[in-house]
Amino acid sequence: MIVLGIESTCDETACAIVRSGRDVLAHRLASQVDLHQLYGGVVPELACRRHIDVLVPLIRGALEDAALSLNEVDLIAVAHGPGLIGALLIGLNGAKALSLALSKPLIGVNHIEAHLYAALMSAPKPPPFPALGVVASGGHSSLVKMHDVGSYELIGQTIDDAVGEAFDKVARILGLPYPGGPAIESLAKQGDAQRFAVKPGQVKGRPYDFSFSGLKTRVLYLAKGNGASKYAPLLLDEQGKADLAAAFQDAALGDIVDKALAAAQEHGCHSLVLGGGVTNSRRLRKLLGDKAQEQNLPVFWPGPGLSVDNAVMIAGLGYHTYQRKGQADGLDLQAQTRISF
Ligand code: KG4
Ligand code: ZN
Repeated sequence: MIVLGIESTCDETACAIVRSGRDVLAHRLASQVDLHQLYGGVVPELACRRHIDVLVPLIRGALEDAALSLNEVDLIAVAHGPGLIGALLIGLNGAKALSLALSKPLIGVNHIEAHLYAALMSAPKPPPFPALGVVASGGHSSLVKMHDVGSYELIGQTIDDAVGEAFDKVARILGLPYPGGPAIESLAKQGDAQRFAVKPGQVKGRPYDFSFSGLKTRVLYLAKGNGASKYAPLLLDEQGKADLAAAFQDAALGDIVDKALAAAQEHGCHSLVLGGGVTNSRRLRKLLGDKAQEQNLPVFWPGPGLSVDNAVMIAGLGYHTYQRKGQADGLDLQAQTRISF
């Protein structure tokens, strides 16, 4: 089954063509980083306009790469949430238009679930289930017990900022460019993570929930003075910035590692499945890889290019979602800014 997938939940527009949930025939992506960098974060209205400009050329390009015509596509899959409402509507309406014009079935895909599927697509064989899914992206930080593809139980999530969002906000405080994750990781290489004492938040009575907002404020005060506003000047020299970046990075990533491993143990999970833009981090891969090895837990990471938002994971999961449901979604499929597991 040839599935054409469309992704437009936030600031990447993407189209991919995937055969039967696995073989990638085309993978096109238009990043908007250049557009949002000036503002230090995603500006929804600008994101929407760019999605409109690039969606159709991306679909054409993907078909060209796969040497297929639209008539040879069997299913249209689209990320219908969660995400920014305007951005979602553009991909969703594009997908509906294709479905209607071609009389091909349409299937809506949960973008967060697709982040976890990205790692499964990249693996030579399926992970031993149940697996502990860890979503670490710009919009989400969740721990999920995965019984199988399509069968999940939410174990923990952030009560304030997502982990990637915290990286982006801390980068802004330190005067680093957007997206913050790669900039912090690169600066932190020169830093001493022990110099500043910073700790991630714990949520009372909910050991697997995350809270990164207090950590971000602590970084702000260390960087600019107690009680300072985020617009105040930095009080640190270059070494100080690197030390603080390293301390923040290890605190935030260490929290994910510790909670994921504890949750996997308590919930009897036999493997870890990672997804989301933050899994690009070499530091996270090292910290989690080392500790998981101690516990004999295999770890499944997204393959190259599949950590950040992409349409390969949408087309891939769309295949399974369609098989499981046994029917297509209607043209009344709604964009959803929030979808939980
Ligand atoms: O999954 P994604 O592309 O978008 C969402 O669905 O949110 O994730 C983007 C996020 C950004 O917040 C970015 O700063 C973060 O992933 N990120 C990283 C790294 N690379 C990207 N965070 C930490 N370390 C990295 N190396
Ligand atoms: Zn995402």
